[in-house]
Amino acid sequence: MSSHGDPIPMIARKSAGLKGEAHVPGDKSISHRSLILGAMAVGETRVTGLLEGQDVLDTAKAMRAFGAEVEKRGDTWHVHGVGVGGFAEPGNVIDCGNSGTGVRLIMGAMATTPITATFTGDASLNSRPMARVTDPLALFGARAYGRKGGRLPMTIVGAEAAIPVRYTTPVPSAQVKSAVLLAGLNAPGETVVIEREATRDHSERMLTGFGATVTTEQTPEGRVITLVGQPELKPQTIIVPRDPSSAAFPVCAALITEGSEVLVPNIGLNPTRAGLFFTLQDMGADLTFENMREEGGEPVADLRAKFSPNLKGIEVPAERAASMIDEYPVLSVVAAFASGKTHMPGVKELRVKESDRIDAMATGLRLNGVEVDEGEDWWTVHGRGFGEVKGGATVQSHLDHRIAMSFMVMGLATEAPVRVDDGGPIATSFPIFETLMTGLGADLGREA
Ligand code: S3P
Repeated sequence: MSSHGDPIPMIARKSAGLKGEAHVPGDKSISHRSLILGAMAVGETRVTGLLEGQDVLDTAKAMRAFGAEVEKRGDTWHVHGVGVGGFAEPGNVIDCGNSGTGVRLIMGAMATTPITATFTGDASLNSRPMARVTDPLALFGARAYGRKGGRLPMTIVGAEAAIPVRYTTPVPSAQVKSAVLLAGLNAPGETVVIEREATRDHSERMLTGFGATVTTEQTPEGRVITLVGQPELKPQTIIVPRDPSSAAFPVCAALITEGSEVLVPNIGLNPTRAGLFFTLQDMGADLTFENMREEGGEPVADLRAKFSPNLKGIEVPAERAASMIDEYPVLSVVAAFASGKTHMPGVKELRVKESDRIDAMATGLRLNGVEVDEGEDWWTVHGRGFGEVKGGATVQSHLDHRIAMSFMVMGLATEAPVRVDDGGPIATSFPIFETLMTGLGADLGREA
């Protein structure tokens, strides 16, 4: 089932070369943060290029429920914030749909204000672990009442008089780090988060942009991020960069589809996000970064991807995992068309995403004729080489947008078509996926 309605079966068939420019939507991580930080600033934040995927629309709705005004006029989203500590108590349950980022960041943002809020989501979100966020929030003085195993639906009772926290994240997670930093906004004094492995740093960058004092120090313990509490956040004008995690799909499709050449302009290459592109280059992909520049303090480039018939399987460095965590599903598809094995260690987090992504991809790859080995925190795809991948199977997307899109990419280059049972979840992060891909010449779409 898709998160909002009947399942949408989809099919992808072997395609002739993909050609043209792929203008992918705004970055999902930055879009969520623009709305949440805008709602915590005093005055009006303006956002253009916001991802209008269901995940972000659910966060917009949630921010309204906490008292911020959020509306789109023309191409610009206007967020009238209520200030740090200014959230109102929502009159109803907050439904974050499919979005782990949405719910975890919002829980952090409200946990140090003395209000109570109940959160829920779809079947995928309600099965994901929340203790990783509610454990540190409890240190601030917030209380959480959820289902067994720390699952949603869950009620958070915000701290009456929050105390600042020093917290080492037990898992590499930008969502956990961000929840702690957002909670720290309404605690007096310094809140410190220590992460052993660097995860995406959009919260640190954007908090600084909104006028908070955030410092980051690299120490033997890891990255130590210190936030000075109770700032007045100043409204910002934000141009959301395009999402490298969405760019991954047309890029990977071009690499495996004979005769392709696709340009994906204006992609953020923040080093905490760009791991996939370096991995593809290591595999021998014809992928180049053109027109490298800085925009809004972030490296940006136009990506040019060409059909690459001689990809080689590689050992993906474990220390790169956090910088490409959302891209392993589509990487595993590219690996199927490479020669030799691609081994992906250090990826336990894949098991607690929108689905168990190792299990979902391994099952679907095997059904389509590709051998996969897996352990708790690693997996290996045995590449068959270009022209040697059978396809022909229907794969379950498990309410996971990236599983659905990955198998649609796969079907463009397999001998027989690949189907997914439900492409509905694609709308959470990439609502224009089908139009964009067919515009490049991909033979994919809904099946009657
Ligand atoms: C995100 C962080 C990642 C990522 C998710 C978006 C964010 O999750 O998988 O799609 O915006 O902070 P974790 O931080 O849990 O690894």
